[in-house]
This record gives sequence, structure tokens and C-alpha cells, in this order.
Amino acid sequence: MPYLPVNTAAAGPGRFQALDFLSLLVAVVHSDGTLQFANAALENTLGLSRRTLQGMDFAPFFSDPQLLQTALQATRQHDFAALRFEASLRRPHQEPMLVHVSVAATELAQEVLVELWPLEQQARQEREERLREQAQAHKELIRNLAHEIKNPLGGLRGAAQLLELELTNPALTEYTQVIVHEADRLQSLVDRLLEPHRHPHQVGDVNIHEVCERARTLVLLEYPQGLRVVQDYDISIPEFRGDRAQLLQAVLNIVQNAAQALVAKMARGEPACITLRTRVARQITIGRERHKLALQLHVIDNGPGVPEALRERIFYPLVSGRDGGSGLGLALAQTFVQRHDGILECDSVPGCTDFRLLIPLP
Ligand SMILES: Nc1ncnc2c1ncn2[C@@H]1O[C@H](COP(=O)(O)OP(=O)(O)OP(=O)(O)O)[C@@H](O)[C@H]1O
Ligand SMILES: [Mg+2]
Repeated sequence: MPYLPVNTAAAGPGRFQALDFLSLLVAVVHSDGTLQFANAALENTLGLSRRTLQGMDFAPFFSDPQLLQTALQATRQHDFAALRFEASLRRPHQEPMLVHVSVAATELAQEVLVELWPLEQQARQEREERLREQAQAHKELIRNLAHEIKNPLGGLRGAAQLLELELTNPALTEYTQVIVHEADRLQSLVDRLLEPHRHPHQVGDVNIHEVCERARTLVLLEYPQGLRVVQDYDISIPEFRGDRAQLLQAVLNIVQNAAQALVAKMARGEPACITLRTRVARQITIGRERHKLALQLHVIDNGPGVPEALRERIFYPLVSGRDGGSGLGLALAQTFVQRHDGILECDSVPGCTDFRLLIPLP
């Protein structure tokens, strides 16, 4: 491909630096098709540095180079129909990627902005967004329902107690006792349902390793025999602003689930292990936002894995695969992590279940 010198003073990376924060792939090209700038997402996707890319002809990166050439011509002729198209992006040593391309002139003559939106990423983000909206709607429904149940419950319990005082046949108190007991059980469920809405978000400095150590101590107290909790920490991770109590609760819920999944192994005397792994992730997309740095905490266990039928739904409230489980632990953990602009994800196969908590770092 011919190398054409680029006027880096006018089109130097400084002007385009903000484009590195986008998950969208962006190229700035000369109207003759020569690449002047590729943002970080495009560099990553192509597996080529922007220094290598600079000066290369961009059109041959598409399976049909003509599409980009036509679009570049269209920017000059103001033919808007050709400015958006779908194409296959060729990548050295990798599978081609289907992208939606949008081409637009910039304020400088002869400079054109090319945006590439990976189609599978678009589909994934739309799905994530849909799930988030659904989860939000569920949360509101549950919150309202919990309030509706809570109010009459007190009256019901009080009436049963009054009735008990009036009963002359002591054998009948067994029935009022059942009402009181069941009302109490429902009350504690309703309280747990309302739990996420009760905590104000209290921000302070959080040391993630201190949180991990606390969770580790607590779970080892609960399972003193047969459980190993491995610490695999990247101690260079800085403190960040967050709500320590909420994050501890989130980590604890995940760690407790892992320990519960390992109970059968522990009983059989087989190695039962939870690993707490912290790492820094770079250039990561959470929701629609791209972050330069994020904290990554993995809670990995070697248990039987999340049952297949539950995998898509474990973060929903009231979904449980455990006898006696209320199915609120992960929903609460997800809410708390989302309050930190983060996300909690899960990958699970038998023998390796990995819960990954991601929180953006400043
Ligand atoms: N590490 C894990 N390995 C296998 N299954 C898991 C794991 N973590 C969660 N699960 C599955 O996901 C379900 C939902 O977990 P969640 O913490 O939300 O609820 P729960 O543990 O059943 O009840 P609660 O936490 O409210 O007491 C669990 O019941 C279990 O079936
Ligand atoms: Mg749980």
C-alpha cells in the first residue's frame, strides 16, 4: 500500500485523544482514503498500532474496498445515501468482523470521520440494555409489592395475637401461633426484598483487598473445615471511592454462594477451593461506557457450576437453585455493584464458576 505523508500538525493524535474513550471504532481518514488516526478500539480490533496504520490506505481493510471509496466520494458530493453501509472488516491473523459503517465529513476539508460499529457488539449491547431495563422493572415491581404486603402483615399478626388472648380453648392457640409464625417469616422475606432500597450510598475510600480479606475471614469462620480460600491479589490496585459496606455485602454474598456450592465436595473430603483474584482491566466497556481502567475481582470456585436452567436468570430476585435459598443474594450484589457504575457477570462450567465484579477506577 502506498505511504502518503500525513500532516500530523493538523491531524495529530492530540485533537482526537477523546476518541480513545469510545468503544466505537473510529478512524479519521484523508478524503483520498489514507488513514490519519485510529482510536484505541480500532487499534485493538485490527491488532495494529496507530503508528503502523497511519498513512495506510483504509479501503483495503474492507472485504469490498469499493464501499468506502464510494462513501468518501459521497462526502465530497453530499450524496447522503452512500454514507452508511454494512461491511466486513478484514483483520490480519483474525476472523473478519461485520461492522456497520458511518462516514461523515469533519469541519476540516479533506478530513473524514469513519465510525465502525461491530454488529455483534451492537447486538450484545442491545441485549444487555434490554436485560437492564427488565431488571429495573422487576426491581420496581418487587419493591411496590413488598410495600403492599408489609402494611397489612402487621395488622394480620396483631389481630392473631389479640385473638389468641380471647381463646378459651388452649388447643386452638396452635392455629394463631401458625399465623404469627408465618407472618414473621413473610415479614423477614419482605424486609430482605426491601433491603437494597434501605441503604443510602455512603461513599468513602475503599481498599478492595481489605474487603476481600474480611469476606475471606467470615466465610472461613462459617466453614472451618475443608474449605480453602486462595488470595491472588494485585496489590498495586489503588483505593477508590465507594461504599465499603455495600461492596463487602456484595462480595460476601458471592463468596457464600461459592461455599454453599462446595458443601458436597467438602463433605466427601475432596479439595474445595475458592479463589479471590484481583486485577486491573484496561479499556473496558461497561454498559455503553468505555473506561480506561477498571477493578476486576474474580470469585472462582471449583464446585459443580450454576445449573444450566438458571444461568440466564441468577441475577434476578427470587431465583434460587438451593433448598432454603431465597434467591436474593446475587440480585442484591448486582444492585450494589451497579451503584458503583460497575457490573457483576458470571461464567460457569462444572468445576469452574467465575463471578467477575467490574468497577471503573478513576
Ligand atoms: N458459585 C455458584 N455455584 C453454583 N451455583 C451458584 C453459585 N452461585 C450462585 N449459584 C446459583 O444461583 C442461585 C441464586 O443465588 P442467590 O445468592 O441469588 O440466591 P440463594 O443463594 O439461593 O439465596 P440467598 O442468597 O438469598 O440466601 C443459587 O441458589 C444457586 O443455585
Ligand atoms: Mg446466595
